[in-house]
Amino acid sequence: MQSMSDYYSAVQLRTDRWSALREALNFLEREPNSRQAKATRAKITELFESLSLIEAYWAFPGVSAFAHLHRQYENGNVDDAAFSVRRVTRALTNGSYRRRHIPLDRDVVDADENEDEAVLSPEARALTKPYFEVMIVDDLNEHQERWLKNSLQSMRRADDAFTYESVVVPSLQDALIGVLFNHNIQAIIVRPGLKLESKVELPILTRYLNRAGGIGEIEEIPPEDYGPELCRLIAKVRPELDAYLVTDRSVEAIAGLDLGICRRVFYNQEDFMELHLNILRGVQARYKTPFFTALKEYSKQPTGVFHAMPISRGKSISRSHWIQDMGAFYGPNIFMAETSATSGGLDSLLEPHGPIKEAQELAARAFGAKQTFFSTNGTSTCNKIVVQALVRPGDIVLVDRDCHKSHHYGMVLAGAQVVYLDSYPLNEYSMYGAVPLKEIKHQLLKLKAAGKLDRVRMLLLTNCTFDGIVYNVERVMEECLAIKPDLVFLWDEAWFAFARFGPTYRQRTGMNAAKNLRDKLKTPQYAKLYEKQQAKLKDADDETLLKTRLLPPPHSRVRVYSTQSTHKTLTSLRQGSMIHVNDQDFKGEVEQSFHEAYMTHTSTSPNYQIIASLDVGRRQVELEGFEFVQRQVEAAMSMRRAISTHPVLKKYFKVLTAGDMIPEAHRESGVSSYYDPDQGWTDIWNCWEKDEFVLDATRVTVVVGGTGWDGDTFKNKILMDKYGIQINKTSRNTVLFMTNIGTTRSSVAYLIEVLVEIANDLDDLLDDASRMERLSFEKRVKNLMHDLPPLPDFSRFHDAFRADNDTIEGDIRSAFFLSYDDRNCDYLELDGSIIKAIESGREIVSASFIIPYPPGFPILVPGQVVSREILAFMRALDVSEIHGYRPDLGLRVFTQEALDNQAGLRLAMPTNKKGE
Ligand SMILES: Cc1ncc(COP(=O)(O)O)c(C=O)c1O
Repeated sequence: MQSMSDYYSAVQLRTDRWSALREALNFLEREPNSRQAKATRAKITELFESLSLIEAYWAFPGVSAFAHLHRQYENGNVDDAAFSVRRVTRALTNGSYRRRHIPLDRDVVDADENEDEAVLSPEARALTKPYFEVMIVDDLNEHQERWLKNSLQSMRRADDAFTYESVVVPSLQDALIGVLFNHNIQAIIVRPGLKLESKVELPILTRYLNRAGGIGEIEEIPPEDYGPELCRLIAKVRPELDAYLVTDRSVEAIAGLDLGICRRVFYNQEDFMELHLNILRGVQARYKTPFFTALKEYSKQPTGVFHAMPISRGKSISRSHWIQDMGAFYGPNIFMAETSATSGGLDSLLEPHGPIKEAQELAARAFGAKQTFFSTNGTSTCNKIVVQALVRPGDIVLVDRDCHKSHHYGMVLAGAQVVYLDSYPLNEYSMYGAVPLKEIKHQLLKLKAAGKLDRVRMLLLTNCTFDGIVYNVERVMEECLAIKPDLVFLWDEAWFAFARFGPTYRQRTGMNAAKNLRDKLKTPQYAKLYEKQQAKLKDADDETLLKTRLLPPPHSRVRVYSTQSTHKTLTSLRQGSMIHVNDQDFKGEVEQSFHEAYMTHTSTSPNYQIIASLDVGRRQVELEGFEFVQRQVEAAMSMRRAISTHPVLKKYFKVLTAGDMIPEAHRESGVSSYYDPDQGWTDIWNCWEKDEFVLDATRVTVVVGGTGWDGDTFKNKILMDKYGIQINKTSRNTVLFMTNIGTTRSSVAYLIEVLVEIANDLDDLLDDASRMERLSFEKRVKNLMHDLPPLPDFSRFHDAFRADNDTIEGDIRSAFFLSYDDRNCDYLELDGSIIKAIESGREIVSASFIIPYPPGFPILVPGQVVSREILAFMRALDVSEIHGYRPDLGLRVFTQEALDNQAGLRLAMPTNKKGE
């Protein structure tokens, strides 16, 4: 049996403990007199003990059924106990307890016992009522508890849309553990009798309390406020849930308190029907999918199509002799649902007034935004929309240079003056980290000194990065606003849509940080803190400002946008993305330009299936996002643990930890690894709260250089060709295994099996290798692990594209369009002519984006000077794909004449320096 500390979370522990109990009871039933019987009995006792603590938070099988089981066993009734435990584990595994009552007694026949979730058809599953659990928080005796549960149960009606069971916990702390452990809970009834503290002492459960944050302060609250406080605390960790507060206090005493997720207060009454209806209504509000429902309805209507869409209603397919297979493959519904805004009947994405508008509003609620906009062309388009809506030609934008290409193109289109920010390099793995806050502040302070702060418009960062580095979003915004109090932030969260639904992750999302900041800046305590810091910082020099954690003025404008590829990390068809907005000036200043930008980039024929999938994806995360994210993190953590502790794997592979990917200076907590073979799991909450950067553990970078294969070969030739495992990103000596909300324990197990097989094969190969072969292998490994070209920084824009030498921003748009005239460009070969040209003292300037894949972002942009470091890097790259580079011709660069003309043009513009 694995020890408790081997588990990252109690959910896996629970599953494994039940299986272990089933196995042990089965054994005892079969061989009661065997030599191991004594040890088995001891194990069973231990399992019953730990499970009894765990089961107190779940409605199925429920504490009384569990106690009954335990008694059966204690009374020597092993066969009956074994039988019941088999039924429980089966129901927990196939989810049948969600659909019907599971009798645990052997005498009661379970007619549907052989029903298996896996073989239930999707149609049959769609017809069953969704199930959830309601947590009642009250300190009750057994009799009261039974009465309460029965009272709620007797309110059930045949036409209820959902079915639920309840679980009772006695205290505020138990309720917090419960909502973080039991993902089935959708609603909480908080009653006046609740206590404060939990009696449970199981560390794997009490650890959840740290994640609820702010728990240190609760001891000071008076008992009558426990209920409201619980509603407020749950709002921080599971904002999607509903709470119902039953209180014996007066309306006046409750009014004015922050009641967090509380949907309704019941004043000293036991109106069970009202409570029941409210609970169902609360879940229905999240379940509802206005656009998906409208589309389904539409597809049922008989309509004649006199429109330009032959595929609509499947007509062009069903009548075809040649493309029938398409109809057979997709089934009829997708074509029945093909329609367009101009056909009427459904809403329009470009001017939404009906179900699309409502679906977007629900998405805003789910993702914590003030406004949400759907996009059917990926985050690539979302990024361009936001940039165009906010950036005017000549505005200065600070951008991380290793951002997605859509931003670079966005800068070209908007005519921005671009300040490229360098991320810290991870030379030994050939990848970049993220941009240190000090670097961002440094650039802002320089712009301020140059008198250009009024033209600085936006900071654009990728959070999290492809490799999983996550910013301290709130801190970055605070410190930047302290220098430029109306700066707009665009957080590219293409890979981070799921983060909203993990309590630890949520704190580092753009929308959550924006809300926190707005709340904080309003308070009088904050104003005092700010004044105090201002007095201290009077006449402070830049060095001091860089070192100080700056506070923004209380009147700062909080202006935050985040763009998310829903399709990358949540359920949505490909290209389904969202733009979330929390901008205090959106209505006053941006709405119109946002609309124009949206029109510029959005197709007039947006795909309705994508929109419907965004609507359904939103329903899913509001009801089970927490569960899925929790499972994803667990899967990733067990993968990290398995690779880093397996004796064979350790030889050839290494999982990169936070310590490997984030320099010490940016990890204030000092935590370098989320798992340590000696110390077990670190609770990541602490570092996620404090550190400048943290690592998203669900993205597992594994160094494979030790196998003698580079990342690309390992990906294509080994994982893909031999084992059919697909991965997304590689660097010279690493591959990235991404988990997602669909990753299961068995898919992780399969990957580990494959890696072990690869490692064993390598062992065999090296065992039989000749001395020469061995030397060659060692040389390859050394080359991959040690001889890596240093990653180059952004050099600079050529003077012809800069207004002055005071600060580094450059006019990427002019450079981009200058290259449209072929006469302005020339080609220089990487190995020959380019070196000669540099050595002759000429400045070589790139005329295009040069994007090697990997790493997948431009190492040169139009107008950028080619430095020796960049050249060395390009020459050392052994990747086959370098977008923008023509191996037959060389690097496309500007002619000296074109640069001189461009410089002349800039000088001739008297107002250019100020960009007016
Ligand atoms: C950081 C980042 N932003 C934006 C995008 C573009 O997203 P989409 O594929 O949804 O257009 C990607 C795609 O990989 C990305 O990695």
